[in-house]
Amino acid sequence: MLIGFPQLLDKVNEHIDRLDYAREPMNLYEPVKYILALGGKRIRPVMMLMAYNMYRDDVDKILDPALALEIYHNFTLLHDDLMDNADVRRGKPTVHKRWDANTAILSGDVMLSLADVYMSRIDDAYFRQVMATFHQTSIEIAEGQQYDMDFETRTDVAEQEYIEMIRLKTSVLLACALKIGAILGGASEDDAAHLYRLGECIGLAFQLRDDYLDVYGDPKVFGKKIGGDILCNKKTYLYINALRLADKEQRAVLDYWATATNVVPEEKIAAVTEVYNQVGLPKMSRDIEEHYYSLAKAELEALSVNEENKQVLREFMAALMERDV
Ligand code: IPE
Ligand code: IPE
Ligand code: MG
Ligand code: MG
Ligand code: MG
Repeated sequence: MLIGFPQLLDKVNEHIDRLDYAREPMNLYEPVKYILALGGKRIRPVMMLMAYNMYRDDVDKILDPALALEIYHNFTLLHDDLMDNADVRRGKPTVHKRWDANTAILSGDVMLSLADVYMSRIDDAYFRQVMATFHQTSIEIAEGQQYDMDFETRTDVAEQEYIEMIRLKTSVLLACALKIGAILGGASEDDAAHLYRLGECIGLAFQLRDDYLDVYGDPKVFGKKIGGDILCNKKTYLYINALRLADKEQRAVLDYWATATNVVPEEKIAAVTEVYNQVGLPKMSRDIEEHYYSLAKAELEALSVNEENKQVLREFMAALMERDV
């Protein structure tokens, strides 16, 4: 029986409530509880369950490895918010703001190890392949995050470099979720590879939307401060193409704000956003998201499972493309 998205999400959330990792010292585990209790879309564990459920019914059996991905994801967020100097996540103060930088580092570190503990709770038959996939992903995410940081101080980042950077920092975790679900579900290697590529493509669309919402989102819904990427000089699809399409005056605006110091945040955000609008980036950004969404749909079509069993993932992908959070 194919299980729908709402029930899968309930299973994930109930399992998070049941987690029993916390012990002394509480100052280490309190921030872990805090970030996990703040919610979030839980798309990574849900995607693992969806992929598994195409091949097997007993999804409860893999809640621990599914949760491992959510714990891992939240670890990356603690460190990412510190690196990006972000004050707000999911509508609440980030861990390094609520506590301090050391707390974000160390509670993040313990989450990385907890993720390993939960991921390893799988049948021996799959252990090597699953752990290798997970660790490879974790290494690639660090690589993506380093490119993201390196690009802040570069002005010549090409669109393809940006795409590879977001593939590493974001897509591979969605791909890993689907692939591990497929492996644990006993899917063929072909299907596991298609699901991995589906995750990569939908992940690119997902991060393109994240970057779009960072400028054009509603902070009350999005849960993060708007304009954070502009303030950090992040090289997003928007920024890279603004540089490419800008006329002389617009280019001068971008160059001025790229190096300005002691800026009033609202002024910088407004000025750069205005250039994005002038050169037509909101629509271009949505178009390229659509492009990667189409590639993801082609991978779904290529799966060997019957059409009915693709339905939950198909609807989930469509919903992701409509998100404003
Ligand atoms: C945020 O991920 C980091 C990115 C990869 C863009 P999500 O948008 O999945 O965040 P939550 O978990 O739903 O809060
Ligand atoms: C996050 O990218 C990617 C990872 C956390 C690995 P962002 O820096 O854009 O994510 P948000 O916007 O802070 O959630
Ligand atoms: Mg960030
Ligand atoms: Mg970041
Ligand atoms: Mg972002």
